[in-house]
Amino acid sequence: MSRSEKNRSVNSDEIPLAQRSSTVRSSQLKKIRFLLRGLFITLISFSFYFLFFFNSGQLVLKTQNNDIKALNTSDITLLGHFPYKEALKEDLISVYPGLEVHKDTYKALTEMSSAALKDGIKLVLLSGFRSIELQRSIFYERKSARNQVAIERAKVSAPPGYSEHSTGFAIDLGDGTMRQTDFEVDFENTPAFNWLNKNAARYHFILSFPKGNPQGVSYEPWHWRYEGTVEALEKFKKANNLLMKKSKYD
Ligand code: DAL
Ligand code: ZN
Repeated sequence: MSRSEKNRSVNSDEIPLAQRSSTVRSSQLKKIRFLLRGLFITLISFSFYFLFFFNSGQLVLKTQNNDIKALNTSDITLLGHFPYKEALKEDLISVYPGLEVHKDTYKALTEMSSAALKDGIKLVLLSGFRSIELQRSIFYERKSARNQVAIERAKVSAPPGYSEHSTGFAIDLGDGTMRQTDFEVDFENTPAFNWLNKNAARYHFILSFPKGNPQGVSYEPWHWRYEGTVEALEKFKKANNLLMKKSKYD
């Protein structure tokens, strides 16, 4: 075949009309198929996006809403109490036989008690760290003796594994001059409570269960928790989040 013949054979003008139109049709079909495939892939991608990303976004929102709802409705608490792990033995320090607190609580408590004493206030440490086992016996043995159902018991005592006392950061305080008010709401009328109300925050103590607290636990003017380290603060994160939503700390 001569060169001119070859050129002619590749020249589309030389393709018979019938063949040419079918080639055009098939190339159009290819384009349509290509577009359809693109559309299909786009649709699939969007579906995946909606199914996973958007939905998971919703889930995140939903989880946040659930948390908020849960915080409001106490769904993530056990009868109003948040879960707490037991303090490590090596973090505890003995204040006197049978009474231990977290070493950081101890330091702050010592400083706070000295300051109180300078103001003529005698703070008495009534209770500190409680093992989960001890909390179990309080909740299931002592309180059951009072013929109370768990919901009633939880108003005054946390279920085992749910007491702030297990962290070593919670303490119960009394007034050395008015011991009859130990563990009584009447403690709120003592000079010690009055002093604590004004000064405890300086030493990073906060009243855990104020009147009308959102956890629904009975008012405990004697129960304070230490929050002077990030470790302690993290333990009480959920309780504080709840308090922030529903209290004077808003
Ligand atoms: N009395 C408080 C609620 C406790 O048992 O931890
Ligand atoms: Zn307490």
